[in-house]
Amino acid sequence: MSGQQNLTEQRKDNDMQDVIQYLTDQQPRALDQLCEFLRIPSVSADSAFRGDVQRCAEFVRQAMTAAGLTAEIIPTKGHPIVYGERIHDASLPTILVYGHYDVQPPDPLDLWTTPPFDPQIRDGRLYARGATDDKGQVFTHLKALEAWFVVRGELPGNIKFLIEGEEEVGSDHLEEFLKGHRERLAADVAVISDTSQYGDGIPAITYGLRGIVAAEVRLRGPSKDLHSGIFGGSIANPANALTKMIGRLIDDDGRVTIPGFYDDVAELTVAERQQFARLPFSESGFLREVGSGALFGETGWTTLERRWARPTCDVNGMISGYTGEGPKTIIPSKAMAKITCRLVPDMQPAKVLDALEACLRESCPPGLKFEFHRSHGCQAFAFDPTSQWITAASNAVAQAFGQPPVFIREGGSIPVVLSFKQILGIDTLLLGWGRNTDNLHSPDEHFHVADFHRGTLGSACLWEKLAAMKASGRS
Ligand code: BES
Ligand code: ZN
Repeated sequence: MSGQQNLTEQRKDNDMQDVIQYLTDQQPRALDQLCEFLRIPSVSADSAFRGDVQRCAEFVRQAMTAAGLTAEIIPTKGHPIVYGERIHDASLPTILVYGHYDVQPPDPLDLWTTPPFDPQIRDGRLYARGATDDKGQVFTHLKALEAWFVVRGELPGNIKFLIEGEEEVGSDHLEEFLKGHRERLAADVAVISDTSQYGDGIPAITYGLRGIVAAEVRLRGPSKDLHSGIFGGSIANPANALTKMIGRLIDDDGRVTIPGFYDDVAELTVAERQQFARLPFSESGFLREVGSGALFGETGWTTLERRWARPTCDVNGMISGYTGEGPKTIIPSKAMAKITCRLVPDMQPAKVLDALEACLRESCPPGLKFEFHRSHGCQAFAFDPTSQWITAASNAVAQAFGQPPVFIREGGSIPVVLSFKQILGIDTLLLGWGRNTDNLHSPDEHFHVADFHRGTLGSACLWEKLAAMKASGRS
């Protein structure tokens, strides 16, 4: 176990000494429990893990109970939602915490230094699938609430806690749950820790995320693989056709060529571009981090602008023909590609998918059967970063990290944030305790142990700051 951080030292001048002391004393236990959480392979995308996902929901329910919440597992048509709450004083604000207990598939397994579901600490980092995305971050809130509850016998503020098991596969059943439980979920503000700090030692509050649409395109040619010598040159090859069709989606200037793609894009303001430009950013450091040799993107925009506030179109995977060892001379009978577009305000997911489908369908050569399958989608958003809730959160982060957070947008997507706005009418505070370099969705995902403890302290401070605010009368 790595050395304990003395959180008490960090905060001599506040009235949370007892809670902070408890958190400090509990660090080794909290880390052990997080390892237990990480040992459960709750891979939502793969039905082989269904039982593990269910087991993981039960782990979350018990952790909620330990934090003083009345908690239950709520089945959905997909993976279950775990919901807990503690409402004790209508004059205090009600805060809705959201997170996800499901994780991305761990593949490719051979690139992990140690197995993905056997959590291990090396160099102050806890390695496991889900360590930072999002189990470790969810756990900071559970442990912070538990500290308040154990030490004070009550929570600061009214807390509602919603942890789902389908975020990594598009949150398909969450919207229905939100719509069916508007009253029960009513709150003043939501809190999510599923983003990142800006950099090493630079905490951040994220006020905007990109949206996303996902689709799969399939081409079918001859009824079976054919000898490419006997038949090559006489019929359309699905692999040739598909690579050409998707290759044309981006031009040499990094612009997406789908007609109408940029029609609804909200342009960045000069003030926001200046604000991005003031953030410390090193292109060479960035390239080193991602292990790439050169930058590529839409001409006329900086790397941060491209990542946070410009739309994209990416092929996520392709399958066709023979990919085993040695050559095999065939015309494959089919080809498939998975494509996602990241969206920015005010792009409409359905409109983008329509445009993508039309563009691909039009460029498909005769003789091939074209199929387009739509998957999940959500809109982008950008909140007003000057709200009273953001100020309170900023004070809490400053207290825990010893410096105020920077305000950033990020390129990833968390579908529920816009649903909270549209269905429950509330804004979300996005407080990321992890780092973009934590290998989210990649082999050797990890969470810095120091970030885990700092995040837990940040969460404990947050409840105090938010509780000091006025309730809007809903609970
Ligand atoms: N935690 C990420 C989103 C994220 C990561 C936002 C880092 C900002 C910074 C989340 O779990 C995720 O990966 N979401 C998916 C959503 C999709 C499946 C709808 C994504 O962005 O690919
Ligand atoms: Zn996540």
